[in-house]
Amino acid sequence: MENIYLDRNENNYGPAPACIEIARNASADLFYQYSTDYKKGIKSILSGRLSNEFNVPEKRVLLGYGAEDLLKQVVQCHLHNNKKLMIPSHSWWYYKEIANEVSGINIEYPLIEGDDSYYYDIEKLLEIYDRENPDIVFVSSPNNPTGNSISSNDLVKVLDKLKNSVVVLDEAYWLSNNNEQAANLVSTYPNLIIIRTFSKLYALAGIRIGYALVGENLSLLAKISNRYLGYNRISQKIAIAALDSPEYYVDIAYKMKSDRELYFNELNRLPGFKVYKSDANFVLVKVPKEIMPPMNNFLKEMGVIIKFMNEKLLNSHIRISLGTQEQNKKAIELIKKFVEQNNN
Ligand SMILES: Cc1ncc(COP(=O)(O)O)c(C=O)c1O
Repeated sequence: MENIYLDRNENNYGPAPACIEIARNASADLFYQYSTDYKKGIKSILSGRLSNEFNVPEKRVLLGYGAEDLLKQVVQCHLHNNKKLMIPSHSWWYYKEIANEVSGINIEYPLIEGDDSYYYDIEKLLEIYDRENPDIVFVSSPNNPTGNSISSNDLVKVLDKLKNSVVVLDEAYWLSNNNEQAANLVSTYPNLIIIRTFSKLYALAGIRIGYALVGENLSLLAKISNRYLGYNRISQKIAIAALDSPEYYVDIAYKMKSDRELYFNELNRLPGFKVYKSDANFVLVKVPKEIMPPMNNFLKEMGVIIKFMNEKLLNSHIRISLGTQEQNKKAIELIKKFVEQNNN
C-alpha cells in the first residue's frame, strides 16, 4: 500500500495535462543550450509572459527557485547584522531560519485566534511596527499554517503605513485569479514585493519556480536576482503550459473549496476538534493534545501521513494538506474511526 502524503502542502490533483505533454515532447536543445532570451531584451520567456499577464514591467518580475528562493533573496539583499524582520506569530518556520542565516533579528506580531479562523490584528501590527522600526515586514496570505488571509482593506491600511520598510506579501497559497489587484498594489507601493509560486495551485512543486512582482524602489534586488545565463528552460515551458490551462486550475480551486468545506463540516463534529476556516490548500485543526501520539501512529499504520504540529503556539494541532477528493474522504473516515475507537 502506498502512503498518501497530506503533510507537505503539495497539490495531489497534479498539474494540467499540457504540462506533462511539454515534458514528454521536450527537444534536446532545451537541455543542452542556454536560453538566449536576453537577446529579446527580457530575462526569460516566463518573466516576459508574467509581465504581460500582470501588466508589470518585465524588469520588475523576478524569478526564483521556488518562492523559497525569492524569500531568501529578499532577506539576503535587505537584512544584515541585527536588522529586523517582522513576521506573523504563527507562520512558516522558514521565515525565522532565513533571518537567522544573515544574523537578522526576528520580531513577531500576533495573529489572533477567532471563533472559526485566525485573523490579522492590524492595530497591533502597526503598533509593533512603530515601536520596532523593522527593515522588512512579511505578511503571508493565505498564511501557513493557519490558512487565513488578510482582507484587501486591511492590506491597504497596512501598506499605507509601512512606508519605511520593504514589505513582502507571500502569496504562495493564493488560489484565486486576482492578478489585477496584485499588479495595482505593486504599482502603488514602491517598497512592496508580492511572491507567488507554481508549487501549490499549479501542482508543480517539483519544477521549482516562483516569481515576484516588485515595486519600483526594489531595483537593487532586481539586479542581484538576475541570472546572466538564464533560467531552467524546461521548467519555464512547463510553467507557461500551466498558465495556458486556466480552466483546469479554476476547476482545481473549486474542488479545493469543497474539500475544505468537507473537512470543516466533518471534523468539527468530533469531540474537542476545532477546524479553522482556510483559504489555502490545507486546513489547520485543533485536537485534544493527548490523542495526538496515538492518532499519529494509527494514521501512519493506515498509510495516511498528516502533519502533527509541534511548535510553541501550535502544539495541539494537526495540519492536513488537501489531497484528491478520494484521499480526503479516506483521511476523514480514518480520523473519525480513530476517534470512535479511542472514545470506547
Ligand atoms: C508560506 C510559504 N511560502 C512559500 C513557500 C515556498 O514554496 P516553493 O519554494 O515551493 O515555491 C512555502 C512552502 O511550503 C510556504 O509554506
